[in-house]
Amino acid sequence: MSIFWGILGAGKIAERQMAPAIAQAHDQQLVAVMRRDLDQAQQFAAKHGAARVYTAVEALLADAEVNAVYVATPPYLHADHVIQAAEQGKHVLCEKPMALNTAQAQLMIDACRANHVQLMICYYQRYNARHQQIKRLLDAQAIGQVTSLRVNFSDYFPPQPGFWHHDPAISGGGPLMDLGIHCIDLVRYLGGPIVEVCALVDTLIAPSPVEDTATLLLKLANGAQAVVTSHWSTAIFDPNQANGLEIAGTHGSIQAAPIQAKDSSGTLRLLTAEGGQDFSVAPGGQRPHVALLEDFAKALTNGTPVPVSGEEGMAGLAVIEAAYASARTGMRVKVG
Ligand SMILES: NC(=O)c1ccc[n+]([C@@H]2O[C@H](COP(=O)([O-])OP(=O)(O)OC[C@H]3O[C@@H](n4cnc5c(N)ncnc54)[C@H](OP(=O)(O)O)[C@@H]3O)[C@@H](O)[C@H]2O)c1
Repeated sequence: MSIFWGILGAGKIAERQMAPAIAQAHDQQLVAVMRRDLDQAQQFAAKHGAARVYTAVEALLADAEVNAVYVATPPYLHADHVIQAAEQGKHVLCEKPMALNTAQAQLMIDACRANHVQLMICYYQRYNARHQQIKRLLDAQAIGQVTSLRVNFSDYFPPQPGFWHHDPAISGGGPLMDLGIHCIDLVRYLGGPIVEVCALVDTLIAPSPVEDTATLLLKLANGAQAVVTSHWSTAIFDPNQANGLEIAGTHGSIQAAPIQAKDSSGTLRLLTAEGGQDFSVAPGGQRPHVALLEDFAKALTNGTPVPVSGEEGMAGLAVIEAAYASARTGMRVKVG
């Protein structure tokens, strides 16, 4: 099935990642973009070859050629935009975090189900070729029983004018909602469901209504333990240290970094009693956003469920809600 995309929220991520990925993906085309600023919408459309521009959400959703919508507006708008898109019969790819909370996420899932459209969440980390290789290694028991996972995705990002990320009414939270959501999804993808959380969530470097430093201890359904760190308070100039993952089990360990590579490039090392194996990827490898788009199209074509469903998006939010509750109460909190 050919995909004719409309973008709601033609901002930074759409500009840097998704519009170029649509151009590269097989049998997909960007046909319409929407943002409230007409000049900027026109510039975006001209650069990425979209035939039509709109300044209102309803107008883009009324475009008959658009059969799938990429929602990349700020998080507080995701629920409204996904539900509106579903009601107009459009399939949806929604940026992370899926919504401000699980209650909104459930409404989005229900609306897509009721209108017989698919909803996929843009957890692009699952399409990093190195992360897919790790999954194959774990499935093949390469390190035995997995007992420990650590994922860090951090940055230095104090409050500054022009960024909505520090306003919880728009973002839902600080680095946990922005970066930690990817770490949590990676833990779930590679390790399985998360059932319990113990968290420290603090604001350390400047007054802000959202956290800038979060450390989560997670218990998985299979008993394994995980640590997720997600900070906007750390100036780390080595990308391999600023974001990476380590997994260890009864027969060996795996190390990979950086997790946020947009071409899957970076290191991946397996170490067991038999020695080391290097699965590192050179620059120019699989582009996660292109692979994700092609998987989305495959599900639509075959009429099968999308691989990263709304329920997966909601599960990540449930872990974050549990983390905030744990930090508030000082208690371990069960997820969901
Ligand atoms: N997957 C990833 O790695 C990744 C990376 C970055 C961001 N994201 C996510 O992608 C989303 C967008 O982030 P971004 O960095 O691209 O943000 P951004 O640059 O601020 O872009 C947001 C877009 O939404 C539009 N918009 C804002 N308010 C609107 C409204 N009321 N109605 C309709 N459109 C509106 C803005 O255009 P106008 O102001 O002209 O309307 C702009 O085009 C967020 O959920 C973010 O977490 C994901």
